[in-house]
Amino acid sequence: MLNKNYSNRLFGRTRGRSKKKIDLKKYHQTLSEYQFQNCDEKINYILDIGTGYGETSIFLANKFIDKVVISCEKYIDGNIALLKNIEKNKIKNIRLYNGNVYDVLQGTDRECFDLVWIFFPDPWPKNRHAKRRLVTSNFLIKLYKNLKENSEIHIATDSVIYVRFILDSIYKSKDYFLWVNQSEMNLLIKDYFDIETKYYKKAINSQRKPSLFILRKL
Ligand SMILES: C[S@@+](CC[C@H](N)C(=O)[O-])C[C@H]1O[C@@H](n2cnc3c(N)ncnc32)[C@H](O)[C@@H]1O
Repeated sequence: MLNKNYSNRLFGRTRGRSKKKIDLKKYHQTLSEYQFQNCDEKINYILDIGTGYGETSIFLANKFIDKVVISCEKYIDGNIALLKNIEKNKIKNIRLYNGNVYDVLQGTDRECFDLVWIFFPDPWPKNRHAKRRLVTSNFLIKLYKNLKENSEIHIATDSVIYVRFILDSIYKSKDYFLWVNQSEMNLLIKDYFDIETKYYKKAINSQRKPSLFILRKL
């Protein structure tokens, strides 16, 4: 059973604002076919955290066909979109976890991820909500324990406040990770990956330049 301390709690919506009815029974039925259960040591996994509508998971699944992507998202409307995409395109290497990434980490007692993606985590820009931010040094160190040797964490954000917060978290976890692209922060996400998620597009449309942090396990 999860110890629900503050950092483990979930914030934000699990359903969209539109009043569109969702057939939850059908959703859970389809979800059960693609549900992530636990890490199988014979499989190489990528953990994709907070996937929204699942664009990153589709991208990663196509890029790394020999690995299984765990798409971890609590937002049901987004998971439905991802499941439709998986079925339409007959994608075999995505598993979903509908819920809190802390549950996935809690249930993983060994090094099982080759890569972790955190694309546009909720920035919670107000000071009084800062404790809700996912990318803290404690969280990075928690991930460290489940990462395989030399594996990486990729974090994207377009929030200036979150950039500062992430820099502080990287500094505090400097014994655990090498900040690989420290000297390349002028590069764009597009210089690394050809992907546009909903929040990437929002940032570009509002003329905010997203930053990408690449950390490698020491
Ligand atoms: C700002 S959205 C970004 C979505 C997507 N990655 C993109 O780039 O468009 C952040 C997502 O993280 C999800 N999220 C936040 N905290 C989470 C947690 N603890 N576990 C799983 N998902 C989480 C939210 O539900 C939300 O969909």
